[in-house]
This record gives sequence, C-alpha cells and structure tokens, in this order.
Amino acid sequence: PRILILGAPGAGKGTQSAKIIEEFDVDHITTGDALRSNKDMDISDMDTEYDTPREYMDQGELVPDAVVNAIVDEALNQADGFVLDGYPRNLEQAEELQDMTDLDVALYLDVSEEELIHRLTGRRMDPETGDIYHVEYNPPEDPEVEERLEQRDDDTEETVKERLRVFRENTEPVIEYYEDEGVLERVDGEQAPDEVWEEVKATIEDAA
Ligand code: AP5
Ligand code: ZN
Repeated sequence: PRILILGAPGAGKGTQSAKIIEEFDVDHITTGDALRSNKDMDISDMDTEYDTPREYMDQGELVPDAVVNAIVDEALNQADGFVLDGYPRNLEQAEELQDMTDLDVALYLDVSEEELIHRLTGRRMDPETGDIYHVEYNPPEDPEVEERLEQRDDDTEETVKERLRVFRENTEPVIEYYEDEGVLERVDGEQAPDEVWEEVKATIEDAA
C-alpha cells in the first residue's frame, strides 16, 4: 500500500511508521530522518537563505521545498509500497506530491498540544538503531541502551514551540487538502501506542 502519515510534531508518526513497515512490508520514507543524516549538506546552489539544512531544523523552520521535494522524488522512485512520514508539510509540497504518486490512504494522528509538548520534551533516540523512546511512556529495558540515548537537537522547549507554530500555520491546511480529496482518515493519537496501532492497522487494511 501507499500510505501517508500526517500529524503534528510528536504525534507518533515515527513510532507508528516503525510498526507499519514491519506489518505491511513497505519502505519508510521520512524527510526528517533523511535531513538529519544530511544536516550539513551544501544546499547553497538551490538559492536558499542558509547553506545547510541545519540552520532551518535547529530553529524549527521548514527546509526549503526544492531540497525536500528532491529527496521524496528520489525515494518514491525506488519504493513500491511506502509509508511517507514528514511530507507534505505545506500546500506547495502537497501539490508536488500529487504529481509524483497516488495514495491509498492519508492517516492523521490527532493529538492535543499539551500532550505533544510532553512527548517531545521526554523523547530520547537510540543513535545506534534509530529506535524512539520516551523517558516516561517508553523507557528502554536494557541499561546499555539507556546509557547511550540522546535527545534530538530540536526537542528543546523553545524549538518545540516554534515547530508547533509552523505546523499550525503551514501543515494544518494540508490536512484539509486531503480531507477534500476524500482520502483522510483520522485516528485518535492520544491513546497508548498499542491502541493507536490497532486503529492504524485496521484503517490501512480497510483502504488497501
Ligand atoms: P520531523 O523529523 O518530521 O519531525 P516532526 O514532524 O516534528 O515530528 P517528530 O519526529 O518530532 O514526531 P513524530 O510524530 O515522529 O513522533 P514520535 O513517533 O517520534 O522533522 C524535523 C525537521 O526537519 C522539521 O522541523 C523541518 O525543519 C525539517 N523537515 C522535515 N520534513 C520536512 C518537509 N517536508 N519540509 C520542510 N522541512 C522538513 O513520538 C514522539 C515521542 O512520543 C516519542 O518519545 C515516543 O516514544 C512518544 N510516543 C509516541 N506515540 C505515543 C503514544 N501513543 N503515547 C505516548 N507516547 C507516545
Ligand atoms: Zn518523526
């Protein structure tokens, strides 16, 4: 299946995508991870304000469309089924995506702002596996893993607030866009991860 997963920063897109790729054997295409592994690539020839993605990301701003569109275009060309996470984030990107591929379903993980802030400030990443943890909701069992966990550069309180503002301004219209297209499926993302997963899985099975 060709799945889009939408949601605010901290809504659980990465957490649910990890389950989706196992269950449905699809590629995980994620602009956030792709940009994080290329934070210092030179994008100055794309006529951008800053020379690398880092400046945008660490301030919670969107990386310019041309950079992100190229990443997604290349990844989609190599994927059969996929779950696309972190893209599109504005209407221009949504229109670009329409020219690149069809979608079976667009899932929207709906979570309150208070919960988002709590999730983002407590999130920890395993730099070796990329696995996502939370100090309270999902701590690792292995003390060796716990030892090496890191916080993402953009999970500071100040940057989190800016990311949520950017989401409201740029990405909320994208949710309406897919609603109008008739492919949007809302999932209550406020529940525990396994309960969210039950809904996500059933919704994909219905759509595919
Ligand atoms: P990106 O990496 O896409 O970040 P984001 O959208 O801010 O989303 P997050 O990864 O923070 O959250 P998530 O929904 O994946 O939540 P997670 O599963 O980790 O983008 C980062 C930056 O890159 C952007 O700011 C921008 O600069 C740039 N960028 C990326 N894409 C771009 C684009 N298309 N255009 C331009 N710029 C772009 O979960 C969060 C936490 O909650 C974890 O600790 C987890 O354990 C916990 N958790 C998850 N689910 C639950 C649950 N159900 N209950 C309790 N806890 C839970
Ligand atoms: Zn993520």
